[in-house]
Amino acid sequence: MKQNNIQLNDDGQLRHFISIEGLKRQVLMDILDTAESFISVEAQQVRKVPLLRGKTITNLFFEPSTRTRNTFELAAKRLSADVLNVNISASATSKGESLLDMLHNLEAMHCDMFVVRHAQSGAAHFIAQHVAPHISVVNAGDGQHAHPTQAMLDMLTIRRHKQTFADLRVAIVGDILHSRVARSQIHALTTLGVTEVRVIGPKTLIPNDIASLGVHIYHDMNEGLRDVDVVIMLRLQKERMSGALLPREKEYFNLYGLTCEKLTLARSDAIVMHPGPINRGVEISSDVADGPQSVILEQVSNGIAARMAVMSMLLGQRFANETEGGQ
Ligand code: CP
Repeated sequence: MKQNNIQLNDDGQLRHFISIEGLKRQVLMDILDTAESFISVEAQQVRKVPLLRGKTITNLFFEPSTRTRNTFELAAKRLSADVLNVNISASATSKGESLLDMLHNLEAMHCDMFVVRHAQSGAAHFIAQHVAPHISVVNAGDGQHAHPTQAMLDMLTIRRHKQTFADLRVAIVGDILHSRVARSQIHALTTLGVTEVRVIGPKTLIPNDIASLGVHIYHDMNEGLRDVDVVIMLRLQKERMSGALLPREKEYFNLYGLTCEKLTLARSDAIVMHPGPINRGVEISSDVADGPQSVILEQVSNGIAARMAVMSMLLGQRFANETEGGQ
C-alpha cells in the first residue's frame, strides 16, 4: 500500500500522515526535531503555544484507545486548536449515515484535520482520498497496516536515550503478524539507518514476507536478544487472531515473555519499550515493565510532542523556538 503521492503535496511537504513507508529520512528527522522543540513546551508553566489557534481537529476513533486518542487531544489543545471528539457509537452512522456523509458534514463544520483510528486496514487512506483539499488526515492506527505516529513517538524515545540511530540493534518481540505498530517501527528504523532490526516470535506470529523489509528473524528469544540496544515488546492481539496461532499464555510467556533474566542477554544499557496496552505476565513481567530499563511511560509522554509535531507540520505551521511560541 504505497501512499507517497497522497501524503505529500506538490512542494514535497506533508499533507496527510498515513504511513511511514516510502517517506524520506529527512521528513522523519524533521518530525523528530520539531517534536524535540515541543518537549520544552511541556516544561513551561503554561503548556500551550498558539500555533493552531483557529484550527479545528476532529478525532474519529472507530476502535478503542487510551494512549493515542488522549495524547492526540492533549497535543491539539497544547497547540491551541479546537478539538472535536466524535462519539462514533452515538453518531448518526448508527442511524445508517455513511462514513463519507458523516465526513462531509464535519467538513461543513469547518474542520481542518481528521485523526482516524479504524479496524480496517486502509481506512485512513480511503478517507484522505475523499476529503476536501484543505483537510489533512492522520492515521491513528488502521487494522494491521500502520500506526505512524506511534512509530514516531517511539523513534523520539529511542533518540532521546541513544542520541543516534547508527550502530543500534533493535529487537521487536511478539505478535508481529497482527501489529500495525511493528510494521511502522520497521519502516522508521530502517529509514533512519539503524544497524539491525530483529523480529522475534513464534513462526505462527511472524509474517512470511517480513524479511523483505530488511529485518532478521529469530524464533529463539535468547538468541534474538543477545547484545541488542533496544527491546520493543508487543501485545498479543488475541482479538485479531482466528484459529490456533498460539501456545497457551503460560507457555508463551516462558518462550517469549520478557523477564529480568532474559533482559540480561541484551546490552546492559538497553531500554525496554512497549506501545501499550501491556499484558503483565503474558508478554512482559511486572519486574521489567516497572523496572529501571523500562521507558514505557516515557513513550506515552513523548506521544504528546510527537503528535504536536505531526499536526503542526501538516497544517503548515512551523515552530521556530520555544520562546517565540510561548504565551
Ligand atoms: N499504543 C496505542 O495505540 O495504544 P491505544 O490503543 O491505547 O491508543
